[in-house]
Amino acid sequence: MGERTNHGDVLLRVRDLRTYFYTRWGVVKAVDGVSFDLHRGETLGIVGESGSGKSVTVLSIMRLIPSPPGRIVGGEVLLDGENLLALDEGEMQKVRGKRIALILQDPMTSLNPVFTIGDQVMEAIRIHQKLPSRKALVERAVEVLKQVRIPAAETRLRDYPHQLSGGMRQRVVGAIGISCQPQVLIADEPTTSLDATIQAQYLRLLKTIQQETGLSIIFITHDFGIVAKMCDTVAVMYAGRIVEKGDVRQIFNRPAHPYTQALLASVPKLEEDVERLYSIPGQPPVLHDLPPGCPFAPRCAYAYDRCKVEYPPTVEVEQGHTAACWKLV
Ligand SMILES: Nc1ncnc2c1ncn2[C@@H]1O[C@H](COP(=O)(O)OP(=O)(O)OP(=O)(O)O)[C@@H](O)[C@H]1O
Ligand SMILES: [Mg+2]
Repeated sequence: MGERTNHGDVLLRVRDLRTYFYTRWGVVKAVDGVSFDLHRGETLGIVGESGSGKSVTVLSIMRLIPSPPGRIVGGEVLLDGENLLALDEGEMQKVRGKRIALILQDPMTSLNPVFTIGDQVMEAIRIHQKLPSRKALVERAVEVLKQVRIPAAETRLRDYPHQLSGGMRQRVVGAIGISCQPQVLIADEPTTSLDATIQAQYLRLLKTIQQETGLSIIFITHDFGIVAKMCDTVAVMYAGRIVEKGDVRQIFNRPAHPYTQALLASVPKLEEDVERLYSIPGQPPVLHDLPPGCPFAPRCAYAYDRCKVEYPPTVEVEQGHTAACWKLV
């Protein structure tokens, strides 16, 4: 492995990332100039309506964009100073799971129903770690399941996914994620299919594991309640770009972008009412046919002439808090 540059405490630096899909309707600019830093031990939340480019952003970081139709057409993803976009597939496989782990949206489909929990946890470990014996592998699998608080882990190894509760299955997916002690854990909406109590337990568990290991986390969610509990910093995405970024208190107390303000205003009072989140008037834009200017302008109460013709620059509204909106210029 080559020398890694030391970037202070920035672990993952994404610069001007662009991922496009070349479809028969046109070029879908799913991610169009995304930049952010993730520090060691930091939890970054990515929020935004459906289709805003959250998953494509993290799939690009993992280099898991289906191609065709997708292609990462620009930017850098620096992990400890090393540009992942420049690695060949063999080198990238050593990064996936080992240094960056991705927990997918739906924990039910992330587990294979025909293999036992033990097989699946051990397979994840075996890919990245050379353990001297089968016994050592089983011991490590038990240890990982205990880390995610699966009771009677030794016997659970022999169970199939359908024999576990939803919450336990989710923790197994979490266990697979952390089994190789990654530096970055990316969780793409891991809790939507679970009830609120189980969600809360799972999130507390992730936080505990983070405190134990110093892991950095990227958390993609529709739920601002989760952001408030889990995240240190927040990036708000709209139409393939980050429109506002800051620490969690700045975003909640002083949202600067009209889109963020609308998102926060639309948060339902009952936490479990996930389906009705984000009832902002108007539709998200069609990404293969973006109008010039700010794509939020047609839905924005503050939009004026300039917003419709020119994309706004990103402005620092206070230290560490940026937003891209003409009314802030
Ligand atoms: N394989 C693909 N082919 C064409 N377009 C795609 C493909 N994958 C994603 N896209 C498009 O990229 C855009 C961003 O999708 P993405 O999955 O990142 O949204 P998201 O913010 O994760 O939404 P959600 O909250 O619903 O998960 C969408 O317009 C989507 O249609
Ligand atoms: Mg998604």
